[in-house]
Amino acid sequence: MSRLASMLAAAALLAGLPARADVAPPPKTAPSAKPDGKQIFAARCAGCHGADGRAESAYGKQHSIPDFTSKAWSAKQSEKDQIATVTDGELEADMPAFSGQLSAAEIKAVVGYVRGLPAAKK
Ligand code: HEC
Repeated sequence: MSRLASMLAAAALLAGLPARADVAPPPKTAPSAKPDGKQIFAARCAGCHGADGRAESAYGKQHSIPDFTSKAWSAKQSEKDQIATVTDGELEADMPAFSGQLSAAEIKAVVGYVRGLPAAKK
């Protein structure tokens, strides 16, 4: 490449680079770190509780897992007890403890999702 050609190429390269002012500034507030209960449920709970929370599987029946979408069932559950169940598990009943796998905020979020299922039911 001739000296002129390489200078032109360098100029073109520079011209193609976005000017500093074109770069979007970082958002003022950090993206919400609030955990997504629905996503956690799908990843961690649906295998036993069903994608819809109804546990209508052979496993669910065998373990008499309640239907999380039932208004009657849900109304009797306190958030505090459910958080304790998910945190510590009910090991004798095969419900695993998530204390080592999910943060307290994630557990609160997934319990919130479970508690919202009856209202979300069509
Ligand atoms: C390995 C299977 C399994 C996984 C995974 C699992 N569970 Fe469970 N879960 C069970 C079983 C079995 C029971 C029934 C315990 C019983 O008899 O009360 C249960 C019970 C519960 C209960 C209490 C129901 C009651 O009767 O008091 C809650 C709340 C619950 N699970 C939430 C969750 C959430 C939230 C997740 C995901 C973070 C999850 N579970 C993941 C098997 C599982």
